[in-house]
Amino acid sequence: MSGSNGSDGSGPAAALFRPYELPGGVQLQHRMVYAPLTRCRAFGNIPQPSAATYYSQRATPGGLMISEGTIVSETGFGYPCTPGIFTQEQIDGWKPVVQAVKDKGATFFCQIWHVGRASHPHYQPNEELPISSTTKPVSGQCFSLKSMQMEDHLPSRALAAEELPAIVEQFAAAARNLVAAGFNGVEIHGANGYLIDQFLKDGINDRTDAYGGPIENRCRFCLEVVKAVCDAIGSEKVGIRLSPFGGFLDGSDSHPYALTTYLLEELNKHNLAYVHLVEPRVAGNTDLEYTLHSIAPFRSMYKGTLIAAVGYTAENGAAAVESGHCDLVCYGRWWISNPDLPRRFRLGAPLTKYDRATFYTQAAEGYTDYPFLEDSEEGKAFLAKLPAN
Ligand SMILES: Cc1cc2nc3c(=O)[nH]c(=O)nc-3n(C[C@H](O)[C@H](O)[C@H](O)COP(=O)(O)O)c2cc1C
Repeated sequence: MSGSNGSDGSGPAAALFRPYELPGGVQLQHRMVYAPLTRCRAFGNIPQPSAATYYSQRATPGGLMISEGTIVSETGFGYPCTPGIFTQEQIDGWKPVVQAVKDKGATFFCQIWHVGRASHPHYQPNEELPISSTTKPVSGQCFSLKSMQMEDHLPSRALAAEELPAIVEQFAAAARNLVAAGFNGVEIHGANGYLIDQFLKDGINDRTDAYGGPIENRCRFCLEVVKAVCDAIGSEKVGIRLSPFGGFLDGSDSHPYALTTYLLEELNKHNLAYVHLVEPRVAGNTDLEYTLHSIAPFRSMYKGTLIAAVGYTAENGAAAVESGHCDLVCYGRWWISNPDLPRRFRLGAPLTKYDRATFYTQAAEGYTDYPFLEDSEEGKAFLAKLPAN
């Protein structure tokens, strides 16, 4: 069989198909990580049977998947139809989803999430103001569940220091619930301008107490969450996602290298499953914009497993592994529209383009109906041209 198209694993994406062992002894068969991707199809905030189909379509033997952001408590919501993990119904809703992924031989981490001020009273108990490190509202708008249209963010309520242990415990309880639901571990969502990032970044955090001001203070809440979650389920079951340079939801910092250096030094003290860094490229509902910054300096600072995310292709992902830029590469949008993305990368097969219009809609369209290679005319034609085994 010819290796020119990589069908024997020797093509341009070959480095992505080297095995890797996570701390805790999890054996991965390849380096591609399915990204945390909110899909807004968890009606009543409970994962639906369609989620089992969706995730199992994308699960691979020896692969690592991270679930969509999953909300740790009633005050954590800020988007329609996102799943939670603080009621028995939510735990039970996740169980068949996790089982379906495990049946495919994949390792499944769940991303635990509190959106903080990126919410709106319409999502909050008693329509109270969302909570945050600050009272400053996010600039821009959010989708209101009541008016069903975009509305300005309102000011938030700054949490008192005495309230923080209870929020920290919500993350720990969520982690315990997720392990009870069968997940292999959790990813703490410390990125993209959500609650933890609202403490980390001086573009948001304007506190003057022990949780604001100097870097050590702004990292305190994040590190308390990490410690509590590690204590709850074991550090080798815990990952964390950070966006050192992200400006999403105003989550930027005046000294991103200093902030992230301190954080990584502290995270080195735990034997975490991984640290997951968002590259400084804008994604989501816009096309990529590249910036001058890079996560590259953080590789040598963090001693454990490093995942890099945003804007990766087969070629630059493999190059990132080859060069030691990261250990594992996270793929989002292309894995939405190509359920068999690792196979396509290995074969050098054509990709189905993702449809942004269905990222956050509630139907099966754009969710469970993207074709496998065999299911499209283009894919069939490609497979027919491959040398026979
Ligand atoms: C539809 C959609 C939903 C997303 N949801 C989440 C999420 O729940 N948690 C998170 O940390 N990032 C989320 N992201 C960001 C992705 O995890 C990923 O970083 C982003 O898509 C860039 O990677 P890519 O270039 O491979 O798509 C989302 C992105 C998209 C497009």
